[in-house]
Amino acid sequence: MDIFECIQKRYSYRGSYMKTAIPRENLEKIIRAGLLAPSGCNKQTTSIIGIDDQQILDSITSLINKNGFTGKTAPAGICILTQEIPGYADVYFNIQDYSAAIENMLLAITTLGYASCWIEGQITESTETQKQIANLLNIPADYIVVGFLPIGIPENEGKRPSYKSFSQRAWYNTYGSDE
Ligand SMILES: Cc1cc2nc3c(=O)[nH]c(=O)nc-3n(C[C@H](O)[C@H](O)[C@H](O)COP(=O)(O)O)c2cc1C
Repeated sequence: MDIFECIQKRYSYRGSYMKTAIPRENLEKIIRAGLLAPSGCNKQTTSIIGIDDQQILDSITSLINKNGFTGKTAPAGICILTQEIPGYADVYFNIQDYSAAIENMLLAITTLGYASCWIEGQITESTETQKQIANLLNIPADYIVVGFLPIGIPENEGKRPSYKSFSQRAWYNTYGSDE
């Protein structure tokens, strides 16, 4: 699959997943894709925990499930952590850093034939959920849990949302041009 096909194919899957295990080799490819993302001033503020232990997965998904999470049958997942380290002075890029890492991982997940969904709102809307996940995974206090990506072979075909048209959101040379 070339990169453009992969970008086209990626979407947020919120259905259930097949039980088929994710080989460590693939999980590592996905994690490495995240670690290779650009980061502001190369501060590499994003850290990643790959999870393929069923008990840990069950505990995480039940914590997120309180907030309406639907991908709870995934056989693996990725927990995304950030550190609030300034790029320079009091300028922080850590949100952009982990966003770039997440997108790299979503594309890697897609290219390997798996589905996923960027779960962030359902974690960060509750500091309690963030803390509970941090406790569960033994995460030190200077890291913040910001996201979770379920990973697995989708059991059904998910629904793609509709997107605004190209001309509503992108132009050549000047805003709103019809070139
Ligand atoms: C910062 C951010 C937070 C998100 N948080 C959640 C979430 O908590 N739960 C969820 O189901 N989807 C979440 N999503 C996925 C978006 O809802 C999804 O990307 C959007 O609806 C567009 O759909 P698509 O990914 O299928 O193109 C999040 C996406 C982003 C970028």
